[in-house]
Amino acid sequence: MTVNQIRPAHVDDAAELTQVAARAVKNDGFDDNAVARFMPGLRVNLALIAAGLVFVAEGDDGVLQGWVSVRPTGIGGLILLEGIFVEPAHSRRGAGSRLFSTAVGLSRKLAGNVILINSSPSSVDFYARLGANKIGATPFVFSPDVELTMFAFTIPPV
Ligand SMILES: CC(C)(COP(=O)(O)OP(=O)(O)OC[C@H]1O[C@@H](n2cnc3c(N)ncnc32)[C@H](O)[C@@H]1OP(=O)(O)O)[C@@H](O)C(=O)NCCC(=O)NCCS
Repeated sequence: MTVNQIRPAHVDDAAELTQVAARAVKNDGFDDNAVARFMPGLRVNLALIAAGLVFVAEGDDGVLQGWVSVRPTGIGGLILLEGIFVEPAHSRRGAGSRLFSTAVGLSRKLAGNVILINSSPSSVDFYARLGANKIGATPFVFSPDVELTMFAFTIPPV
């Protein structure tokens, strides 16, 4: 099922969004203990939902296929990709790319020039394919054994 619509997330979506994130990460091969350690970084941020900075992708059947959120960093023009997760049953069908486009549009509205991404090991090819540039690496704050690749995505002019 392809994505039918991308809409702002509601507070009522929150529990399901967090579950989608946990399933997406587990599908990358992390065990339950690792997913439990990651949870503070997987839980959707209610303040970002309230601020209109979380969007969900839905299929024709109304089933939630994934979500994305961004946040301003406070540094002029720099927006952080807070999270992007696709339900494993719907992966590799373009939902992630559509959600990332939504994040780009949102970032433009926030006067962003660059999106900063901390990529999990399995998502590196996804961001490279989208045109993001590798700028470094950093330990995952909630599980320092996992090294995240840092990317900068330059927001193109419209
Ligand atoms: C990363 C993620 C959001 C991608 O979502 P998706 O809907 O599968 O992505 P798309 O279908 O739009 O993929 C676009 C392209 O990115 C690349 N890509 C995506 N996932 C990939 C993977 N796991 N391995 C290699 N390349 C990948 C491919 O080139 C793909 O195009 P193709 O399928 O035609 O080859 C999703 O796999 C996910 O939720 N992963 C787990 C959670 C996570 O790590 N989130 C990111 C935190 S930094």
